[in-house]
Amino acid sequence: MNVKKILELLSDKFVEAFEGCGYDSKYAKVSISNRPDLCEYQCNGAMAAAKEYKKAPFVIANEVVDKLKSDAMFEMIECVNPGFINMRISAQAIKEYIAELAANYDKPLYDAKDTTIFIDYGGPNVAKPLHIGHLRSAVIGESIKRISRFAGYNVVSDVHLGDWGLQMGLIIVQLKEQQPDLPYFDDSFEGEYPLEAPFSVSELESIYPTASAKSKVDEDFKKKAQEATGLLQKGHRGYTALWKHIMNVSLEDLKKNYEKLLVDFDLWKGESDAEPYIADMIKDFEEKGLAYESQGATVIDVALDSDTKEIPPCIVKKSDGASLYATSDLASIIERNKFYNPKKYIYVVDKRQEMHFTQVFRVAKKANLVPDDVEFNFLGFGTMNGKDGKPFKTREGGVMRLENLIADINDAVYNKIIENRETSEEEAKATAKIVGLAALKYGDLSNQATKDYVFDIDRFISFEGDTGPYILYTIVRIKSIIEKYMQSGKSVDVSKLDCPNNASLKALMLELANFREVVDGAFIELAPHKLCKYIYELSNVFNRFYHETKILTEEDEDKQAAYVAAIALTKDILLCCIELLGFEAPDRM
Ligand code: ARG
Repeated sequence: MNVKKILELLSDKFVEAFEGCGYDSKYAKVSISNRPDLCEYQCNGAMAAAKEYKKAPFVIANEVVDKLKSDAMFEMIECVNPGFINMRISAQAIKEYIAELAANYDKPLYDAKDTTIFIDYGGPNVAKPLHIGHLRSAVIGESIKRISRFAGYNVVSDVHLGDWGLQMGLIIVQLKEQQPDLPYFDDSFEGEYPLEAPFSVSELESIYPTASAKSKVDEDFKKKAQEATGLLQKGHRGYTALWKHIMNVSLEDLKKNYEKLLVDFDLWKGESDAEPYIADMIKDFEEKGLAYESQGATVIDVALDSDTKEIPPCIVKKSDGASLYATSDLASIIERNKFYNPKKYIYVVDKRQEMHFTQVFRVAKKANLVPDDVEFNFLGFGTMNGKDGKPFKTREGGVMRLENLIADINDAVYNKIIENRETSEEEAKATAKIVGLAALKYGDLSNQATKDYVFDIDRFISFEGDTGPYILYTIVRIKSIIEKYMQSGKSVDVSKLDCPNNASLKALMLELANFREVVDGAFIELAPHKLCKYIYELSNVFNRFYHETKILTEEDEDKQAAYVAAIALTKDILLCCIELLGFEAPDRM
């Protein structure tokens, strides 16, 4: 939109120069130098252009350099063998760019507020406690949502609860065994059901594991649970009333947990909301000639000639008439399309579900559940492992509950804070919460989402290195410098931005200049780790500048004001990035 990216500005110059010399502008791409010791930016277009124009690359590069040599944008521009163009931007140009950035860094990247992106993440299963398997979906999805919004899109997020499957039947039959006299199990009961749930959250949480374990050894029990699930899905009155209690009790707890994670959803829909669309959808599949019967089940072929591995048909109805996971995902697409008309869907789910989503997306396209130009994205994430390289477990070997994991991190950070400095218990606790969440989220998000990663609490909470606390520490450091500066009666003034002869300040300004490019990359590639990498680098260049430059004791007031303006923007951009990643910074650490 209004603020161009620095690379665009540079490329614009090259477009003019290439065209001015009679060459196609497609060769005019500028990139950040991969040899920062030689130059800041480079253009390698002459190498490719040489083939088309049958000239030596050096000749082309030289012609282009001649056109740009006297441009005020460059402090240095030269052609090096065999035809690369290296350049350094002038102090004046970077200063102007950064001033523009300071005024506009948080403006949308695209003019897209009328285009909707629908993000499906979280995906907890009702009545089962949130465990760390659901952590990644929540953390990554939340960041993708915030980045997409920042990019300028209208974004709708849905937690998509697992609220309609066998676990519901299991709970119902287990409860029936424990409290057979409840009115929900009395088919002749016609009165109003109680408003109070017949269990508390903690009771509910113990019911599911008991029932689940029993269903693995007791065939009869399992069958009863399947029947109860079927009855619930068909609208059984007592079971529906009970289901509502399960939902209420469970949701209250889930919401509390997501709030702690600074994760929130626009929609709290679930698999059950898809139910009303299913019957018509299956009929439509059949009428379109897409669905056919195979071994009693109803399936749709989705394999393509271009497939390199086998993609089995998508089962949309089981032989006993029951719906499956794919059925409810397809039916929810119908609902989403109807109410939100998204151009793009993003599902943030464990990568082991990739086949399921390949099938679902193909059926959705084949059956025209969405317009042709709609884009489906599956962002499949890897597993969070323990130091032993196996999926993360508690010390006792059980599944770690998210709440306990968070408490462990907070305790570790708390101990570190009280070791480091005098502070009240209350403040240390509050700070530990903020820093702990940053440690957890950064530890996750700094890895490419598709990869597995090792959960290493000691590393994640370290104040040094590529960690959340290091980033926060940098922000806190800048805040404190600015505070002291202001205490001396001065104020931060962006118009004082300058790039005097100070290499580490220029390096900081160049890094700041990459900001919008990086956010755009993170948005397009669904890659929050790119944002983490950026703030790590930005923190490093800031800290180098800080160590090499006296800021508060600088006597030249213009210079000092320029330094403070640059670090204030550094802080703002770091804060903006951590907000996009989904965590906050404390005032002190
Ligand atoms: N509840 C599912 C699970 O725990 C994840 C749901 C993901 N979203 C979806 N639309 N299928 O595996």
